[in-house]
Amino acid sequence: MATIRLGDKAPNFTADSSIGKINLYDYLGDSWGILFSHPADFTPVCTTELGTAAQFKGEFDKRNVKMIALSVDGAASHLEWIKDINEVQKTNVEFPIIADEDRKVSDLYDMIHPKADSTLTVRSVFIIAPDRTVKLMLTYPASTGRNFYELLRVIDSLQLTANHKVATPANWKNGEDVVVSPAISTEDAKQMFTKGVKEVKPYLRMTPDPTL
Ligand code: BEZ
Repeated sequence: MATIRLGDKAPNFTADSSIGKINLYDYLGDSWGILFSHPADFTPVCTTELGTAAQFKGEFDKRNVKMIALSVDGAASHLEWIKDINEVQKTNVEFPIIADEDRKVSDLYDMIHPKADSTLTVRSVFIIAPDRTVKLMLTYPASTGRNFYELLRVIDSLQLTANHKVATPANWKNGEDVVVSPAISTEDAKQMFTKGVKEVKPYLRMTPDPTL
């Protein structure tokens, strides 16, 4: 198992899942991807997380993001559990849940943290860009369900900053002012960002979202 770092190519894999055998790269195609692990099927927090992910499908679709969940349970178990998730969360889980019984993918992505639990995956999140590079990694303990609004927010930031020389400040939300990249001089920024540049400090320049 090699350590994965931001900017690394997301390791490819072929694995069984709730929708049959899938290959990560083929499944993602030209899309962004969110690969997220959870400790186990038929557990309460995971049930809320996967139901919420399914409820957010429209928002992820708008951003060209495909979701892939994973746990070390088998595909038959996933299929039974999906029925519960759909019932309890009034949704329809359509994204695949990887059945990683042999822990091949969990090991590849370092999703088992033995000091937390030696047998179950922790709540890892990997955001993968269309060029297959890893753009974000998050790790939550089993006791804390993830915030899917935050994942959408990060995707918005990643997609904006991939195409414009800006960064997004603390607690930024889509549509709010952004930070001019430190690599750009204020003079150049004023040419580049025609909606205006406010120099708060020589190193902190704000501009409206250039896509609006
Ligand atoms: C849960 O998803 O509810 C959960 C799973 C493992 C440990 C604690 C909580």
